[in-house]
Amino acid sequence: MSQTAQLISPNFSDIFAPNIEIGQFPDGDSHVRINPIADCKDAEVTIFHRLYPKQNTSLVSLLLILDSLKEVGAKHISVVAPYLPYSRQDKKKLNGEVASAYVICNLLARAGCDKLITFDCHFLNKEGPAEFGELKMQNISMGKALVEYAKANVFLGEACEVITPDMGANYLVKDHGGKSYKKTRKEYEGDKIAYRDIGQMDGDFDVKGKNVLLLDDMISTGATMIKALEKLTEGGAKKVCCAATHGLFLYNCVDKIKKFTDCVYSTDSIINDNAKVSIKEKLAGLAAAQPTLF
Ligand code: R5P
Repeated sequence: MSQTAQLISPNFSDIFAPNIEIGQFPDGDSHVRINPIADCKDAEVTIFHRLYPKQNTSLVSLLLILDSLKEVGAKHISVVAPYLPYSRQDKKKLNGEVASAYVICNLLARAGCDKLITFDCHFLNKEGPAEFGELKMQNISMGKALVEYAKANVFLGEACEVITPDMGANYLVKDHGGKSYKKTRKEYEGDKIAYRDIGQMDGDFDVKGKNVLLLDDMISTGATMIKALEKLTEGGAKKVCCAATHGLFLYNCVDKIKKFTDCVYSTDSIINDNAKVSIKEKLAGLAAAQPTLF
């Protein structure tokens, strides 16, 4: 078997013990020190590094690590980054706008990333291997684990409908009835070119008196979940719960969601107070399937 090495970033310390140091110079430049660098020569290296929060700094740190590994002669480099920032900017809406998802993926590939292993990546609509721009990827889904959590801990054995608030996340519910609302966003308004409000959310599901789990790839500002919660409330749903793989939970949106339901949770792909389901088991499964990763 080939020689392997694992590099653990300090921002993965909730799962593995870190063996690289990442800090900042006084002016804010990133400082990276890879203590086991000698072990990476001719090795299959796996880097465990979160890219959120502080996505720009975290991405630069990763580029520094990748280039150093290339320089030292690593044979194959996999990166495990549970949430991929910039993944929602995969299309150009405006003249001159940058489709930054491609830029980020290409930068990672060119810096030496042979494979990015990530979870429920926004622009990938299925689990498994994929290629995006120049980057080879592996998309792992937390959909099943999130549904199982709700069944066991929220609905306590009672039946529940599982619905995604938009079509993009439909693959998460394909084994649970495949129901999704159709969400459209408004056009950019005024000088607000970095966010489009939600326009319509279409879909007429009979939810009267039923338990419903709303499941999405991410909760960011919470606007999508809140729109879906309004629809479910109008439709007379019984108990409703919101879950997502990635919990960014911006602008105190948990408090806004809690006006409709006290049930809202995510995985620990991004460390947050509402994480109830861990990516650890999936990582262990990955290690069993690809022994050179760990
Ligand atoms: C978008 O299509 C995604 O699947 C999520 O629905 C969206 O990114 C969530 O963002 P927010 O919480 O800001 O509505």
